[in-house]
Amino acid sequence: MTTQEAQFNVGGVRLARPFRIRRLGHFGVNVRDPEASRDFYCRLLGFRISDPLDFGPRLPEAARAKVGPTIGYFARHGTDHHSFVFFPRGAYSALNEWAKKPQGTINQITWQVGSLREISDAFDWFTRRGKPIRRAGRDLPGSNWHFYPPDPEGHINELYYGIEQIGWDGYSKPREMYGVRYTKPPQLPHKSELAEVMQAASEGIAIEKGLRASDIGEEKYDVEGVLLSRPFKIVRHGPVRLFVDDMDAMLGFYRDDLGLTVTEEVDYRGHRCVFLRANTEHHSMALYPLKLRDELELHPQSTLASSSSPASTTAPLRSIPTATLSSSTTTWSRSAGTANRVPRICGRRSTTQTGPTLLPRRAIRS
Ligand SMILES: [Fe+2]
Repeated sequence: MTTQEAQFNVGGVRLARPFRIRRLGHFGVNVRDPEASRDFYCRLLGFRISDPLDFGPRLPEAARAKVGPTIGYFARHGTDHHSFVFFPRGAYSALNEWAKKPQGTINQITWQVGSLREISDAFDWFTRRGKPIRRAGRDLPGSNWHFYPPDPEGHINELYYGIEQIGWDGYSKPREMYGVRYTKPPQLPHKSELAEVMQAASEGIAIEKGLRASDIGEEKYDVEGVLLSRPFKIVRHGPVRLFVDDMDAMLGFYRDDLGLTVTEEVDYRGHRCVFLRANTEHHSMALYPLKLRDELELHPQSTLASSSSPASTTAPLRSIPTATLSSSTTTWSRSAGTANRVPRICGRRSTTQTGPTLLPRRAIRS
């Protein structure tokens, strides 16, 4: 990048793009059975539901009976309204044709930028350059300002800012506060979130009547000095790993459009694997060739290799029961007799594991 190319002032720093990705944000999958996913991710791993979303009302009545479950979930591990999303693939695919493709097992890969202005400027920058944008505006639930550019192979990415924070009382915003529907970034400057809350209260909306997940379970484990119902706590999300068809085209998006940095490339069994980062961690994302997926005999109908949810724990990892511990890496593996994904847990990664490691073959296949 030359100085001349660094033409945008982003928070006082000249950059080649009018935004800078700060971190991998939330991540979403489309699943066959959201209730099974809810059990897995919430009861086992400790995610909490921040809001459900029913796709049923958006479907024609005739389609509703054919698509299976219609309710999906926004879930969180910290104060962000959602860090993980699992939506019903049947209902979602009936509304979004692209989700029927193998890329459609991934609902969204999201990236946080530093301000609402960055969202607005990034939206304009992508638009001016003729890049496709699937939708834009503001997430409700979640309140985050965003736009959704797909990568060249159809995985939905989201750039966002300002996701709702769930505080000490554990309540999300009530649905009545979703009065205004945005379909593009707002005119700037926009009113503050506090002003929105005060306005809602003045209009008689019971701002304390949102959803609070209260199923905390029996708290019997000391995790870093706090009693919890599991011997670990999910502390963040990522990296995300994809199988890709055209590595150069995908790098054109993740490196050149989004501005991620290539940390390292490795040759694994003759396959080019690329690791990219958004900040100081070695990688937020890994791209593997589709041929590797096939060589590893993973399910041909998904391009998601895995997503990770690192956990904090004071207990020795080996002392935690396997069914409880496998908190970190989810991969979508072959499931005989069905085209739907079944989440399989694999590997044992502590928060200290970094580096350009491919998952060991035995782990990927487990
Ligand atoms: Fe999102």
